[in-house]
Amino acid sequence: MSRRSLTLKTFSTLVAGGLLIALASGCGTESSAEISGGFQDRGRQIFNSKCGTCHKLAQAASQGNQGPNLDTAFAAARAAGMSEDTVKGVVLYQIYHPRPSVKGYPGVSMPANIVTGNDAEDVAAYVARYAGVPGAKPPIAPGEGPGAQVYANQGCGSCHIFAAAESAGVLGPNLDEYIPKMSKAQIKQAITNPNATKAKGYENAVMPNRWANLPPKELDELVNFLVDYAAGPGGN
Ligand code: HEC
Ligand code: HEC
Repeated sequence: MSRRSLTLKTFSTLVAGGLLIALASGCGTESSAEISGGFQDRGRQIFNSKCGTCHKLAQAASQGNQGPNLDTAFAAARAAGMSEDTVKGVVLYQIYHPRPSVKGYPGVSMPANIVTGNDAEDVAAYVARYAGVPGAKPPIAPGEGPGAQVYANQGCGSCHIFAAAESAGVLGPNLDEYIPKMSKAQIKQAITNPNATKAKGYENAVMPNRWANLPPKELDELVNFLVDYAAGPGGN
């Protein structure tokens, strides 16, 4: 037994699952997507929409606390020399065969198969690149000030147009047009409790409800960024 296998409970899960044999025999898994850690990184985007609701991970700037902090979970393994490939295997194994929740996460178990196939590969590769890596932090966002960073970190741009953030998502309303018609209180509510009101013209659309726990400081920075930089209906 190597020293690290004795120190890692995740490692023994892996052995029990037979995954190591699969990796060793070469039917391992190379992700097709590039891992850049940038806002366009598919693995990062998938993480933020499917995993960040329950897990903190510094590089993703995610806030979830229903499951373990993934930096903490992998820091010791990293420090002990566990390779990126092995971490990826552990993450994939957890995605397909989540272990039942242990003490510390009462009432929450991680559902199996939240993602599969290439999505699972990409998100696992992304987590393996950054979880527990000292100093990992989110990419620098386009736009001015701390609120621009919050906007980018939270993935608002994947659904909204906002010129100052160079975002072009079209699932939700164009924020350059809508923000100037809203008060700061309304904007806050739109973010932290999006089901309370619906933007005009988007009555049947659903904004994810996952920012209720955004730290108040970040919420203020985000709202100020939106108000200060909204281009307005005419665009200016
Ligand atoms: C509904 C909440 C929830 C979601 C969504 C979720 N997880 Fe989890 N996850 C948990 C819980 C709870 C645990 C702790 C299980 C336990 O007690 O060991 C966990 C454990 C893990 C672990 C093991 C950490 C360790 O301590 O070894 C990894 C890795 C992980 N999750 C990755 C992911 C990834 C990747 C995604 C997205 C595809 C994801 N999780 C989505 C709740 C969640
Ligand atoms: C997955 C897509 C998606 C993401 C991500 C998203 N939104 Fe939305 N957003 C929508 C949709 C759809 C609507 C229209 C339905 C509604 O108003 O709830 C909307 C509406 C809004 C509105 C107008 C609400 C109103 O009542 O008029 C604001 C402001 C807003 N979003 C800001 C944000 C911010 C800030 C973020 C990042 C924290 C964000 N959105 C992330 C899809 C999204």
